[in-house]
Amino acid sequence: MATIKELSEKKPWLNWVLFFGTVIIVFFLGLFAASIVERRSEAQMYFQMVEPIPEFEPRNEIWGQNFPRQYESYRQTLDTTFESKYYGSVMIDYLEKYPELVIMWAGYAFARDYSQGRGHYYSVYDIQKTLRTVQPQPATCWTCKSTDVPRMMNELGVSGFYSSTWSGMGSEIINPIGCQDCHDPRNMTLRITRPALAEAFERQGRNIHDATHQEMRSLVCAQCHVEYYFGENNYLIFPWDEGFSAVDIENYFDNHEFTDWVHGLSRAPMLKAQHPDYEHYKTGIHAERGVSCADCHMPYKREGGMKFTDHHLQSPLNNIEGSCQVCHRESAETLRQNVYDRQDKVSELRRIAERHLARLHLEAKVAWDAGATQEDMEEILVLIRHSQWRWDWVAAANSMGFHSPNESLRTLATSIDKAQEARVLLTRVFSKYNVPQPVELPVYSTKQEAQQLVGLDMETIQQQKDKFLNTVLPVWLEEARIREELYTHPRE
Ligand code: HEC
Ligand code: HEC
Ligand code: HEC
Ligand code: HEC
Repeated sequence: MATIKELSEKKPWLNWVLFFGTVIIVFFLGLFAASIVERRSEAQMYFQMVEPIPEFEPRNEIWGQNFPRQYESYRQTLDTTFESKYYGSVMIDYLEKYPELVIMWAGYAFARDYSQGRGHYYSVYDIQKTLRTVQPQPATCWTCKSTDVPRMMNELGVSGFYSSTWSGMGSEIINPIGCQDCHDPRNMTLRITRPALAEAFERQGRNIHDATHQEMRSLVCAQCHVEYYFGENNYLIFPWDEGFSAVDIENYFDNHEFTDWVHGLSRAPMLKAQHPDYEHYKTGIHAERGVSCADCHMPYKREGGMKFTDHHLQSPLNNIEGSCQVCHRESAETLRQNVYDRQDKVSELRRIAERHLARLHLEAKVAWDAGATQEDMEEILVLIRHSQWRWDWVAAANSMGFHSPNESLRTLATSIDKAQEARVLLTRVFSKYNVPQPVELPVYSTKQEAQQLVGLDMETIQQQKDKFLNTVLPVWLEEARIREELYTHPRE
């Protein structure tokens, strides 16, 4: 047989064949090796913990020792610099921006203080700081704020937790929203830690354990970003039994004869929407196409060849490339404009509803003062209740309607319709009691003026808050610090 040397002398092109053949084989071997390394490191993220994490470990930094990338990105929720047209991580004082809200919430704690939310890292501090918690609140208010909640529910039982007081639980609830809320520490799969969500599923005849992986990427958020109310003994309930729309939930509350508070001016039996983000999302096209909350708010990120989930939960407009352009081919500028176009339209109707409602409450008070009876006012008060509920359904949800633009606009249109109907009925009451029309209403143009108008003594409320922050809170933190020291020992 001829050697390679002899062959190559006879056929010189063979050298080149061998050369390129080798290059191609080495290239594919390289690719194969890289993919094995990447798979292995992905698998490692899931299954190889530096140190096992106990079942009820609330401290994010302990979880972070095992998962530094997720932890570091989670810590970025501390950043409060990004501002979009309507949202972002900056604190916006909504009462200052829309003083009508103070009138609309007269007699309710929201008239004191209401700001646009910040990152998860601030969840515990922000509820300690708000002027709403000057009034005594139940422990149920802590439910969506902290990784200490599952631990305390385990200690006290779920009903025991809800029936405690907010301040009674103050030294226990220290760690902000984090790993424990969404993950099983044994294998890091997503899990539901808040019973109200699982219970709402059960009442609908579904089992939350049957949820698909893609559904779980939204359901972990639906533990908190939802509409809820406090039932008997402050038991937390998601009112989903009749469906996810504003009208379905309005029916639910009407059937349960539930009222959050009686309005300070109009005396209407009011409802307060929380933040029905999941419900809105469920009625939008993205949910219908199977896109999850995490797809937009927790996109994948790459760092040194390692792919992981970005835990910097924030406005997707601060990362359009990672959040939207995975699926959409349009430029970032176009996509941002698409969001703003939808938000502007929702905002326009929202402002109309707000102005009507603030006027309505003031006008209803004029009617009462003129001697109107409960019977005169009955129908009007129900219209006010429903109109404001529908406005709030959109206003209280995050995203200014982007999560479901059509449903948001429809809901606001029915809110305006009901407000108009109430005002027509009111003119009849005015005629009956000889109130000159158009009625004269008090004027206000700032948050402070509106708060004065509804009789709030903000100076005293602020003093009470400062006293809490300077005397009570430091004691809670000290007690927590001592307990934490005890808590670390069994781990060593
Ligand atoms: C198709 C992408 C998409 C999906 C899916 C989605 N969102 Fe959003 N979300 C957005 C956009 C866009 C905004 C508006 C951000 C802005 O205006 O700065 C937003 C705003 C928000 C905000 C307010 C952000 C801020 O800066 O204060 C929250 C909270 C939120 N979404 C939660 C959720 C939850 C919970 C889900 C699932 C139930 C969800 N989102 C599903 C795109 C999405
Ligand atoms: C344990 C309850 C809880 C869970 C679970 C939760 N959130 Fe939140 N989220 C909150 C609270 C409370 C705030 C407001 C914090 C503040 O303002 O102090 C918030 C704020 C946010 C913000 C606003 C951030 C900003 O910078 O303005 C976004 C976006 C958000 N959450 C998205 C999500 C998404 C998406 C999920 C699911 C992957 C989720 N959240 C899961 C309770 C929760
Ligand atoms: C609001 C819910 C939520 C919180 C809080 C949260 N995660 Fe996640 N995490 C997710 C979601 C959603 C995924 C994507 C899971 C999937 O699709 O399988 C994920 C994925 C992961 C993964 C799998 C690898 C990856 O990057 O995709 C790890 C590890 C992880 N998270 C660690 C953490 C750590 C550590 C913390 C606390 C600092 C934390 N998570 C807090 C929702 C959360
Ligand atoms: C996982 C894929 C996916 C992601 C991520 C995603 N979208 Fe979409 N988006 C879709 C699909 C699918 C539709 C429905 C249209 C269709 O089926 O062709 C859609 C529809 C839309 C529409 C038109 C419908 C409407 O509501 O008016 C807009 C606008 C839009 N997306 C913007 C965004 C923005 C902005 C982001 C990022 C914040 C985003 N999308 C993220 C898949 C995605």
